[in-house]
Amino acid sequence: MVMKPRAPADAAAAVDEVIRPSRLNCIDLSSSDVRESVSLLKQACLDCGFFYVVNHGISWEFMKEAFEQSKRFFDLPLSEKMRVLRNEKHRGYTPLLDELLDPDNQLHGDYKEGYYIGVEVPEDDPEANKPFYGPNVWPDSGVLPGWREIMEKYHRETLEVARRVARIIALALDLDIDFFDKPEMLGKPIATLRLLRYGSGQISDPSQGIFGAGAHSDYGLITLLATDDVPGLQICKDRDATPRIWEDVAPIKGAFIVNLGDMLERWSNCIFKSTLHRVLGNGQERYSIAYFMEPSHDCLVECLPTCKSEKNPPMFPPITCATYLSQRYSDTHADLTQYKTGQT
Ligand code: OGA
Ligand code: NI
Repeated sequence: MVMKPRAPADAAAAVDEVIRPSRLNCIDLSSSDVRESVSLLKQACLDCGFFYVVNHGISWEFMKEAFEQSKRFFDLPLSEKMRVLRNEKHRGYTPLLDELLDPDNQLHGDYKEGYYIGVEVPEDDPEANKPFYGPNVWPDSGVLPGWREIMEKYHRETLEVARRVARIIALALDLDIDFFDKPEMLGKPIATLRLLRYGSGQISDPSQGIFGAGAHSDYGLITLLATDDVPGLQICKDRDATPRIWEDVAPIKGAFIVNLGDMLERWSNCIFKSTLHRVLGNGQERYSIAYFMEPSHDCLVECLPTCKSEKNPPMFPPITCATYLSQRYSDTHADLTQYKTGQT
């Protein structure tokens, strides 16, 4: 690994923090009381941009199956995993330390491995030349039979949950319920599933700049996170507070932890929050599956009509979704050329 070690800029400040439990709202997708759901979700989006989603229609058995398959992949020898190394389309395996989310406070990259699976677009499809579209890379089906099918099913089913959550978000923003369903928005989304494993024996130490995942906010519209029952996720509602207050987010069996990304914060003129979060390793192996939901490549992210007024003019110029995302990915991932030596 050739990533340049960086000293935490302000290690003393990193120690100066408070940790307490969080209390997040819970949205029940099976509820017929839409007004209640909108109200709970809106409160969460104004406050911290994190909430649980339960009764979303994906069975616990199937989620468990996806976690088991994820473990099968990460348990493969490193040489096998390096055969499906992340490509320039952000598909495939990201090794330990590959991602550096918080360079000012991290000694080196995150103590996690990952695997990106995006929207499957065949090589000969004209859409495949878009930066976040293309064919996925898959582990050899001889090595992991049935693996691809499970992951594709998880991708499809979670996309539907994300679309349902986006409808409640639209209502909470006083937009039409189908605002995000338009073809140029979530009709042809950039949707990326990412399997994650935080290694066993890895104990994070904020004072030393060592983290499972460094403090960051997500880039896109919303993230649907499924975790196993090992704790580790923390959120910080006010990044400028001293000391920073970090709140533990408890895992709930079968639920998604949903959070808003920076693109939605920008789109809503900062009315809705994209909150800083991180993962601390406690020495136990921990698995999570993140699902990043963004609109189509060409979608123009421009202050929503209900989020501006004479007193509150748009704070950001319009930008396309693809331009915005490309910038954010290149800011946080290691340069792929570092892996070239010694690879076949
Ligand atoms: C992420 C993330 C949290 C977790 O992948 O962006 O914040 O619990 N993951 O893995
Ligand atoms: Ni995140």
